[in-house]
Amino acid sequence: TEVMQRITDVVDALKEKDGALLPILHGIQDEFGYVPDESVPVIADALNLSRADVHGVVTFYHDYRKHPAGRHVLKICRAEACQALGGQALAERAMALLGIGFHETTTDNAFTLEPTFCLGLCACAPAAMLDNQLIARFDETKLAEIVKEIRS
Ligand code: FES
Repeated sequence: TEVMQRITDVVDALKEKDGALLPILHGIQDEFGYVPDESVPVIADALNLSRADVHGVVTFYHDYRKHPAGRHVLKICRAEACQALGGQALAERAMALLGIGFHETTTDNAFTLEPTFCLGLCACAPAAMLDNQLIARFDETKLAEIVKEIRS
């Protein structure tokens, strides 16, 4: 299939690299926006790894998505400085407002919610990121504005 061909192209282009697994996963996510399940056996064969090994790495790194993302990705920082300044409550508020948990996408496909671990904005915690845009001093008001703007 076309998907398998695109997976194979990415794997072939990168498999000779040292430590090829992460660059390949990255390349696949760039190509598809997530890491399709079908890519796991292709990567495992190319690198002589077990499927379980490859799957374990995809699951371990929070940056790899297992499913296509919604139109917008909201990442909330789960690292220490942000947690100390209300990050947990904000994450819960976001989940309640969107009706999804982390790594999930709303049914209207507008949002995917993801945890992230330090955005380098600790001095302005709590921090978040909407698509590629950093948000300092994230709070309930900013959260509500984002959701409203995107859904209006
Ligand atoms: Fe959240 Fe650094 S801990 S930005």
